[in-house]
Amino acid sequence: MSARVKYGKSRGEIFTCPPVTPELQSELIQTWVAVTNSGGAGVGFLPPVSVSDVSPVAADLMEKVMRNDAHLIVARNEEQELLGWLAIVRNRDHTQNHWAWVKRMHVIAPYQGKGWGSAMLSAAIEICHSEGLAQVYLTTDGQSKSLKFYSSHGFSEVGRMPRNTLSMDGTFHDEVYMMMELGPGSGTLKTAMSASTGCER
Ligand SMILES: CC(C)(COP(=O)(O)OP(=O)(O)OC[C@H]1O[C@@H](n2cnc3c(N)ncnc32)[C@H](O)[C@@H]1OP(=O)(O)O)[C@@H](O)C(=O)NCCC(=O)NCCS
Repeated sequence: MSARVKYGKSRGEIFTCPPVTPELQSELIQTWVAVTNSGGAGVGFLPPVSVSDVSPVAADLMEKVMRNDAHLIVARNEEQELLGWLAIVRNRDHTQNHWAWVKRMHVIAPYQGKGWGSAMLSAAIEICHSEGLAQVYLTTDGQSKSLKFYSSHGFSEVGRMPRNTLSMDGTFHDEVYMMMELGPGSGTLKTAMSASTGCER
């Protein structure tokens, strides 16, 4: 199931858990390639990157979505163009299934700084809340602007892997682990998964 949500100043819509179709998969790959090639950090690739580089990684993610181990959140403008997306990836490890990752978050360059990223992150946090999760984690490049972005949305740095990520300038940057506490969490029960979020497939 999917849901349309309007957030604050965004003119367009945020779709949570959209149906996974070949068309959507192709759109996700296109924005992933575009944001990488425009210099976006922290989405797993360095420029120049092509559709064929990204496709296998996207296919792995789509499999997780189909298994209900991940949820997608996408942003579209009024013309229904895909502007960006993120994935919430659940843990299936029994000792760690009370928290989830936010991964691959990006907004294509012409739409950055206009509130879309904030809207998608808010939607992701709402889904994690409603699934009864206790924490949300993400990682980001320690030298990118996104550190400030995530801090302003309530994430705190909880760890750092020194110089473990190759960056565009050829140097190795720290990978920063950031976390948001959501509460005690009931999501350790498998049955909590997706029951109230409309993300079940
Ligand atoms: C980081 C990102 C997802 C934020 O989404 P956004 O829609 O641009 O952000 P919003 O408009 O909701 O929020 C604005 C804030 O985002 C941050 N931001 C804006 N442009 C940014 C950019 N190009 N890269 C990183 N952060 C940016 C700023 O902190 C800004 O705060 P300010 O208004 O006080 O300066 C988006 O800019 C992006 O995709 N950047 C490139 C890829 C990337 O860094 N992804 C994160 C992977 S961990």
